Formats: sequence, C-alpha cells, structure tokens
Amino acid sequence: MERTLIIVKPDAMQRGLAGEILSRFERRGLKIVGLKLIHIDQALANRHYGEHQGKPFFNGLVGFITSSPVIVGVLEGTNAVAAVRSTMGPTNPTSAGPGTIRGDLALELGRNMVHGSDSPESAEREISLFFRPEELLDYTRDADRWIFE
Ligand code: RTP
Ligand code: MG
Repeated sequence: MERTLIIVKPDAMQRGLAGEILSRFERRGLKIVGLKLIHIDQALANRHYGEHQGKPFFNGLVGFITSSPVIVGVLEGTNAVAAVRSTMGPTNPTSAGPGTIRGDLALELGRNMVHGSDSPESAEREISLFFRPEELLDYTRDADRWIFE
C-alpha cells in the first residue's frame, strides 16, 4: 500500500469542483486517510514547491497556491502515486486526454486544478509538510477485503 498527497488547488475551490475531484479519486478506489481545508501561507508554499525555486513560474505558482483556501488530502492504495497522476492527467491540460481531471475540467497550465506527489519520496516529504502522523486515520473498507481475498 502506498500513500500520496493531493491538493485541490484554488481554481478548483473557486469553481466549486472540490467534490468532483475527490469523487474521481474515490471512484478510482483510492482511500482518503487524511483531509483538511487550509489556507497555505507563503512559507509553506515555498517549502512545498522548493524544487521549483528559481524557475520563471515560481512566483506565480506560489501566489496562486496561497490565493485561496485549498483542500489537502492523503490518499492510500496500490501504486497510489501513479494512480493519482494518471487520474489527474498531464501537467498541461492541453495535453490531457478526456477522462482525466485536467482533460475534462481544465485548460490552462497554471490553473490545472489539482496537485499530486510525483514520486513515493516526494509523497513522504509532502505528507509530512501538511499532516501530523496522528491526523492520518486508517480504517478498513469493504474494498480492502476485495483486494486481499
Ligand atoms: P503538480 O506539482 O501541481 O501536481 O503538477 P506537476 O507535478 O504535473 O507539475 P510540476 O512540474 O511539479 O509543476 C508544478 C505546477 O507549476 C505550474 N507550472 N507552470 N509555466 C510553466 O512552465 C509551468 N510549469 C509548471 C503548473 O501549474 C504545475 O502544476
Ligand atoms: Mg509536481
């Protein structure tokens, strides 16, 4: 079982599409083990997007992610990192196919609705930025039994 971090970005929150996005991950079979509504401050945004520091889009990216409350979540499942990335579609919505979140709901690179960790190592780092261990609640669903039976 793997865990990954998602962020329902400000554009999705402003458009009232948070439920739609969470629903797509749930329907894929991913389990929500952490979830909260927060307003990311500058310092947290700088840490989260540290790998992009110095790039031309960095300031815009940080300005955007701090512009409105967002929903951050931890999703768990088999190959959760890759499953979330394929459910989101490619970074640039123009290249995202129908059936993906970005392909169905987004058009602009800088307004691509959702973040998902890009590797298990990134996931671990990002989850610890946003959640304390005791905020992640494990529970069994019927789906877990179907997987292992
Ligand atoms: P994310 O981190 O948001 O899940 O997206 P990603 O891994 O697919 O893309 P990443 O390379 O990590 O970039 C983070 C976000 O920065 C914006 N971006 N703008 N103008 C540009 O060239 C550019 N490149 C990236 C996107 O909003 C991307 O989601
Ligand atoms: Mg990324």
